[in-house]
Order: sequence, then C-alpha cells, then structure tokens
Amino acid sequence: MAATKAAPKIVDPTFETVKIERDKGVTFLIMNRPEKRNAMSPQLHLDMNDAIDHLSIDPHTDVLVLTGAGKAFCAGQDIRLYFRGTATDPAARAKARRASNDWRWQKLSKFPKPTIAMVNGFCFGGAFTQVSACDFAIASNSAVFGLSEVNWGIIPGGIVSWNVGQMMRLRDAIYYATTGEPFKGKRAMEIGMVNKSVPANKLKSEVMKLARLMQQKSPAAVKYTKEAIRAVRFMNEPEAADYLNAKSDALKFIDKEDSRGQGMSQFLDEKSYRPGLGHFERRNKAK
Ligand code: ACO
Repeated sequence: MAATKAAPKIVDPTFETVKIERDKGVTFLIMNRPEKRNAMSPQLHLDMNDAIDHLSIDPHTDVLVLTGAGKAFCAGQDIRLYFRGTATDPAARAKARRASNDWRWQKLSKFPKPTIAMVNGFCFGGAFTQVSACDFAIASNSAVFGLSEVNWGIIPGGIVSWNVGQMMRLRDAIYYATTGEPFKGKRAMEIGMVNKSVPANKLKSEVMKLARLMQQKSPAAVKYTKEAIRAVRFMNEPEAADYLNAKSDALKFIDKEDSRGQGMSQFLDEKSYRPGLGHFERRNKAK
C-alpha cells in the first residue's frame, strides 16, 4: 500500500497579542487580547506587522482569514495604551501610528493571497480599516459595528474616514460617523461594509466555504485581479486601459501554472467545463 504523505509540519512564530492557526492552506490570523476586546495596543500593531510579514511569503497560506479571539473582532485602538499611553511621548506615538497604518492598510490591502475579514463580534473605530483592507468580509448577524470616535470626541482618523467613504454610500458614512450609532451585521451588509452577514453559528462555515472556493482559483489571476480592481479606482479611463493592458500581459509571464492556457484548452478542446458557470481544474499547481 502506498504510504500517505504526511502534511508538512509548520512552525509559526509566537506573539504576545496575535495568534496564528491553520486549516489546510487557510490561515487564521487572530487578534488576541480577548479580555480587552482585542483593542489595538502598540504591541498588537508591532505583532501584526511581524505576523503579516511572515505570512505574506508563506507558501502554505492560500487564503488569509483575519478575526478576533473571544466575543470581539476588534474594539478599535486601545484608548488607554495607544492614545493616553503615548500622549506625552511623540516618538512612541509616531512608531505606534506607523505600525498601525502599515499592517491594517498597506500590508493587508496588498497581501498577495485572498483575505477575508471574519467579523465575529464588536468592531469599532480603527477596526474599520482592516475590514476595508480585506478583499472579503463576512460578519455574524450578532456582530456590533460602530464608528464610535464621535462618542468620545475625536474624528474617525488614521484612514478610517477615507475607508468608509469608499465602502459605504456617502449618506451612510456621514450618518454613522456623526451619530456614532452602533449597527449589526445585516446592516453592515446593506451599507457595503461586508459581503454577507450570517447567523453566529454559521460564520466559520461560510468563511471556510469562500476560502475553499478561492483555493480552487488561479492564484496568479486572483492576485492580479484584486490588485487591478483596487488600482484602477484612482485612474482615469485612458490610464486604466493602459494599466490593465500591461497587467494582462504581465500576468501571462508571471503565471507559473499557465492558468489561461489550461482554462482555454479545458473549455475549447476537452469541453470539460463552462467558464461562465465555474472554474477550470488546476492540474498544474505551482507554489
Ligand atoms: N480601548 C481600551 N480598552 C478597551 C477598549 C478600547 N478601545 N475596548 C475595550 N476595552 C477594555 C475595557 O476598558 C475593559 O477593560 P478592564 O477589564 O480593564 O476594565 C475590557 O476591555 C472589557 O471591556 P468592557 O467595556 O468591560 O466590555 P463590554 O463587553 O461590556 O463592552 C465594548 C465592549 C462595547 C467594545 C466596550 O468596551 C467599548 O465601548 N469599547 C470602546 C470601543 C470604541 O469606541 N473603540 C474605538 C476606539 S477609537 C479608535 O479606534 C480610533
């Protein structure tokens, strides 16, 4: 009998405020300060930067899921440690702010694999940035969102106002940012903050369904597609057309699986699938 190949043993670094868990190519990146509702301390920002650097070049991560430990997704910036704790130390504040923006937006929105925000509970203030940075977001119906900054006398800073101006309709962004009114998962779906909202006991299975689907798509085509969609929003039409032509050409060169060739021949020659109704079979997986 042929010996079954053991799954590779993956040893991840450990962090004070972040956990990494794995399930066959789907990597869970978990904000892990449950007793503080995963509020973002300066240490959490540093840990997240290191964890994302590690995972962004990890060949065993096909899809990244960002979530929170316990009953919160993330209660925003830690008002005690991030705001009060650095108020009299400009260097510490600058370091924390840079680390905060780096992982929540720069690194997450450019992560080379599909990313899913699994919003399991409270999601306030600064946490809207990492939800916006992920390619997909799925919330629990019981998750509570809030642009709560106004409730304690600040504006949605960092880049939260910019994020919600893009994700939501302008009327909703201004309404929720100026009233600070909390809203739940289904409302978050209606106003464009998340793709879907599902009962709490279905949250993980919905996320895994989407993650498993994305594992079957061409990684190169998905990476270039998400980069293109984000990039062309800030271009005019001739710039976008030029960028997309160049991006399409580049894809042919970087795609080690020749997804385009496989997709075409499985449709035209083998007639084994319909591109309009589903994806081709990846027979040529490259890591
Ligand atoms: N900053 C600092 N500490 C926090 C934060 C936060 N953002 N959120 C929760 N905590 C702490 C609480 O102070 C408390 O600490 P303690 O046990 O030492 O007293 C602990 O986490 C648990 O919080 P509770 O309020 O007791 O938990 P509860 O489940 O009742 O409420 C909730 C949770 C609704 C999230 C509440 O803590 C809250 O309103 N937090 C602030 C949310 C917010 O407005 N965030 C935006 C910050 S601004 C920004 O991100 C730019």
